[in-house]
Amino acid sequence: MTSFRPLRRRQLFAAAALPALATASLAATPQRRSAPGVLTYESPFPADFVFGVAAASAQLEGAAFEDGKGESVWDRFSRIPGKVHNGDTPDVACDHYHRFDEDFALMASLGFKTYRLSIAWPRIYPNGDGALNQKGLDFYHRLFASMKKHGIEPWVTLFHWDLPQALEDRGGWTSRVTVDAFAKYADTVVKAFAGEVKHWITLNEIVCFTLFGYGTGGKAPGRKESAKVVNQTYHHALLCHGHGVRAVRKFGGAGAVVGLTDNCGVSVPVTETPADIAAAKAWFVDRNAQVLGAIHAGKYTANFLAHVGADAPDVRPGDFDLISLPTDFLGLNIYSGTYVRAGKNGAAYEALPHPVNYPRADSTWLRLVPQSIYWGTRFSHEVYGHQALYITENGCGYDEEPVVNGEVLDLHRRDYLRSHLREAHRVIAAGVPLKGYFLWSFIDNYEWEDGYQRRFGIVHCDFKTQVRTPKLSARYYADVIKTRKIL
Ligand code: FCB
Repeated sequence: MTSFRPLRRRQLFAAAALPALATASLAATPQRRSAPGVLTYESPFPADFVFGVAAASAQLEGAAFEDGKGESVWDRFSRIPGKVHNGDTPDVACDHYHRFDEDFALMASLGFKTYRLSIAWPRIYPNGDGALNQKGLDFYHRLFASMKKHGIEPWVTLFHWDLPQALEDRGGWTSRVTVDAFAKYADTVVKAFAGEVKHWITLNEIVCFTLFGYGTGGKAPGRKESAKVVNQTYHHALLCHGHGVRAVRKFGGAGAVVGLTDNCGVSVPVTETPADIAAAKAWFVDRNAQVLGAIHAGKYTANFLAHVGADAPDVRPGDFDLISLPTDFLGLNIYSGTYVRAGKNGAAYEALPHPVNYPRADSTWLRLVPQSIYWGTRFSHEVYGHQALYITENGCGYDEEPVVNGEVLDLHRRDYLRSHLREAHRVIAAGVPLKGYFLWSFIDNYEWEDGYQRRFGIVHCDFKTQVRTPKLSARYYADVIKTRKIL
């Protein structure tokens, strides 16, 4: 499978026909007879559709300084007063490091058979690229053995934001030192776990550790650099993505697949009319030029270069050979979206701000836009032509979800999940190769700068006692997975 295959004529035709199909499926009723091969809301998800749950090393493992693990930029950043809500640190989190076997037993009991996790780079190379920490590798060998015992398939992200602080001290993402270090780390990890892992994700959400880490400074390491420097951090991240792909091809063994996880900007047409759809698609192309657009084109596009001008990143010969290595799938983290309508006075589009009263989760950025699942995956497919797409994260964060009589009645999350799954179902019916969905998150965890107050789990975690309680949404999702239907 390769991802960057241009759409063939027939596919273009099929894409052009999508608005009509979409309208038809919106009108579907239980009585409506569907054409063969077309899903209605009542049909099950395709037999090969993957349902999973997701989490990341720094957010749930804890054991931040155990068994030789080095300091990560989040260990450091969380200790800077005022950076993280309540001064919360990832030191203990869900203590998954010591409790993973019970956690996998719980996952298995709920029928969750696919789990996306990440490896903590500072456990493997505490200084980023110096001496290897065998205890770090041993931990993940034990973890994968436990998953196997419980019948759970791992999808492993090589990098989910926990950069070794020692690399940050040498320039972090602004420096090519980090690229070389990542290449070594990726080789080591893929070689070590090739027998246990077949699904690899190179990086998680580039914008969050480049722009937010080095531009706005809201995430670790909290720096505020110039646009030129930030664009360079993006470029280094793209190179690391390429190294991840290279490592999996070289050391992953038979059947290994690899892709990037991106939280692309997602536009939703205000009305599903050709004019607004075209406008939303034009916004999507512009907005995603720096990561997906560059990978797809095998260079920075003329539009992107015109946009950044003198702040364009330095590119060395051969960089894009690595960056645009073919992948097997694209992972998309989709939580929300931006409404776009046809532009006025010759503008290609107009993006609309959300009004203050627009519904949202407790995370201020998380406006409730279920259609983002449909349009995000559909535009990605139409623009970049990947042959397999996965929603690698989708979920919602709320505060105050108390356990009452052994239950957490998170009907708000059940509704979020259901409305987003309907859009996943709808886009499959429209012919987009969406192959799976990972719910963020299996368990309440360390939500970065929002600390422990913001809960995204479908399993409640009492951070004082470490008691786990599946919420109503976990039971709901378990039933969806069991029946493969939106219930
Ligand atoms: C995503 C991150 C993930 C989690 C969710 C809520 O941006 O990838 O780690 O924090 O948001």
